[in-house]
Amino acid sequence: MFEVFVEVGPYGLCLYAILGVGAFVFVASELWKKMVLRQLNREYSGTSNIPPGSLGLPFMGETIQFMAAINGDKGFYDFVRVRSERYGNCFKTNIFGETHVFVKSTESAKTILNNELGRFTKRYIKSIAELVGNQSLLCASPHHHKLLRARLINLFSSNSISLLVKQFDQLVVDALNEWEHGGTIIVLDEALKITLKAMCKMLLSLESGVELELLQEDISQVCKAMLAFPLRFPWTGFYKGLQARKRIMSTLEKIISRRRRGLDPNSKDFLQCLLAKDDNSSFDGMHRLTDAEIQDNILTMIIAGQDTTASAITWMVKYLGENEEALEAIKAEQRQLAEKTSKKSFLTLDDLNEMPYASKVIKESLRMASVVPWFPRLVLEDCEIEGYKIKKGWNVNIDARSIHLDPMLYNEPNNFNPSRFDDEHFCKPYSFLAFGMGARTCLGINMAKAMMLVFLHRLLTTYKWKVIDSDSSIEKWALFSRLRSGCPVQVSRISNID
Ligand code: HEM
Repeated sequence: MFEVFVEVGPYGLCLYAILGVGAFVFVASELWKKMVLRQLNREYSGTSNIPPGSLGLPFMGETIQFMAAINGDKGFYDFVRVRSERYGNCFKTNIFGETHVFVKSTESAKTILNNELGRFTKRYIKSIAELVGNQSLLCASPHHHKLLRARLINLFSSNSISLLVKQFDQLVVDALNEWEHGGTIIVLDEALKITLKAMCKMLLSLESGVELELLQEDISQVCKAMLAFPLRFPWTGFYKGLQARKRIMSTLEKIISRRRRGLDPNSKDFLQCLLAKDDNSSFDGMHRLTDAEIQDNILTMIIAGQDTTASAITWMVKYLGENEEALEAIKAEQRQLAEKTSKKSFLTLDDLNEMPYASKVIKESLRMASVVPWFPRLVLEDCEIEGYKIKKGWNVNIDARSIHLDPMLYNEPNNFNPSRFDDEHFCKPYSFLAFGMGARTCLGINMAKAMMLVFLHRLLTTYKWKVIDSDSSIEKWALFSRLRSGCPVQVSRISNID
């Protein structure tokens, strides 16, 4: 018995504890449901138009089922999938004591993401907000978000993307050179290492050394903690994540202080841009970022950029490895490009513009994988969605994954077919949401696409690969849709593309 507890670890123990409490209060649940339904009906007197869905157990709602899905083989999205199939376009549930509504039509996505009437704001669960910091643009109020985003978006100019392409290319070439001919590579692990290095170099000019290694460990602790149960005991994932955040903040403080004392005068990175703009009087009138804002948003960008891009790369390698036709088509394109670029040391932004098929491969991979499967928003005033009354204080979540796999929007949605994007106007508005839409669209969209194109080019021109494990299960306790297997592939080096 003890062994079982050791095996399940703190998450499992936590789950058992929750299950125990859940069983204890089960008897009261029916009564509670009746009370809440009566209350909801009173709130909407005259209409019974509240979204369908279960309220779950008293106080706990469906938190147990949500946590079980996070800890299950099919991944956290399964919680949404099951209910979405049962209730249709719109359903409600109760997680961590709050009402959540999930919607999956392009019309609702448009209303919520466009947010013309200012009725919605982004909000993450409290534990995530604590880990990324309350000055992060992920958690900021609408007004604060506007100020932060205006400053941060300047960092993503085409000049910085050009520099990133060169730096990232160098990193990929170096990493691929380390791979052993005939050896097995776990694509996700490799991609995580490369993307973290790329983000740290671009944001902080950190390239190697102990500082980078420690940062790498701490970032992964923070990511793991994001879906952990928010219990602050020394053995819990959440507590460890908060400790890791403290260490990251202290490292960033030290780096900022070094820069302010002029000790790293030649750094050309995002941090330097933010600090330089702080000192520059021409930015008078614009929001000057405080150190806390800079620190929280550097951490936010690393978290938002590393895991997502690495997961997307992994799915892309898997899909290509399993689809001969698409693989042949992309090889032909990259062969042509390689002939042109063979004399250059590194790829340029212009080279990436000559990869139309690879761009479609990326789009199709992101559609099928839905790395960010749903987008949460807090409702700021009572409104109506899908004909249902939605109340102020509830959370609405756009179920991007259902939209991406809707057969009414994409013919044979489970087939990997990059050519479906041949016609640029083929997509119905709000049917492709891999990077979100509206005022909260992904800040790193061009950077992510550039990294994926560079990776594809180098992989295709250096190696052939065979997917060893075709299991598509999603990793447990992961914030984004990550392949549980990490996608092991066997690689063989090629001298010329064959
Ligand atoms: C394939 C890789 C990526 C995917 C699939 C992705 C996806 C997304 C999505 C869907 C959102 C919007 C979520 C919402 O509306 O609730 C978002 C926001 C964001 N992404 Fe990305 N992202 C990727 C890479 C990156 C990179 C490389 C960065 C680099 C810094 C980044 C930074 C951000 C930031 C800062 C936000 C918040 C924007 C805001 O709230 O104003 N992402 N991302």
